[in-house]
Amino acid sequence: MTKLLLVSALALATLLPAALPQPASAQADPIAERKAGFKRMGGHLEAIKALLDNPAGLRAEAGRAADMQAFFGGLPALFPPGSDKGETRALPAVWSDRAGFEAAAGGATAAAAKLQQAMAGGDTGAAAGAFRELGASCGTCHRGYRGR
Ligand code: HEC
Repeated sequence: MTKLLLVSALALATLLPAALPQPASAQADPIAERKAGFKRMGGHLEAIKALLDNPAGLRAEAGRAADMQAFFGGLPALFPPGSDKGETRALPAVWSDRAGFEAAAGGATAAAAKLQQAMAGGDTGAAAGAFRELGASCGTCHRGYRGR
C-alpha cells in the first residue's frame, strides 16, 4: 500500500514538470481558450484574403483553413455550461439555443472544409467562393450569439 502510494507519487512528480509549462487548457479556462482561438481565426482570414489570386500561396497556406475547420468543429466544447460567467461576450443564447449555436458552428466548419480543399488544389475560383461563405458564417453567428 505504502509502496503503491510512493510509486504513484513518483509517477505524478515525473509528470508534473511536463504539465506545468503548458498554457491554460480548455478545461482550465475555456473563455481564454476560445478568445485566443477566435483571434487566431481572424489572423487566418486576413492571411488567406491576401492570397486569393495566388494559387501557389493558397496551396502553401492550406493548413490555415485546416486549423479553422478543426477549431470550428470543436467550438461547442469551448462553450461548456458555466462559461457564460466571466470576461465573455457570449450571449445566453449560446446555451439556451444550443441547437442553433451548434448549427452555426457547423456552417463555419463546412465552409472551412471547402476552403481547405480549394486551397490545397490551388483553385482560386473555388477558394474565393468558400472564403466568402466562411466570412459570412462569422457574422451569422456573431449576430445571434455574441453581444457588444
Ligand atoms: C458558432 C458561432 C461563431 C462563429 C461561427 C464565429 N464566432 Fe467569433 N465569436 C463567437 C462568440 C460567442 C464570441 C464571444 C466569445 C467570448 O467572449 O467568450 C466570439 C468572439 C470572436 C472574437 C473576439 C475574441 C476576443 O478576443 O474577445 C473574434 C475576433 C471572432 N469571434 C472572430 C471570428 C471569426 C473571424 C469568425 C469566422 C471565421 C468567427 N468569429 C466565427 C461566436 C462565433
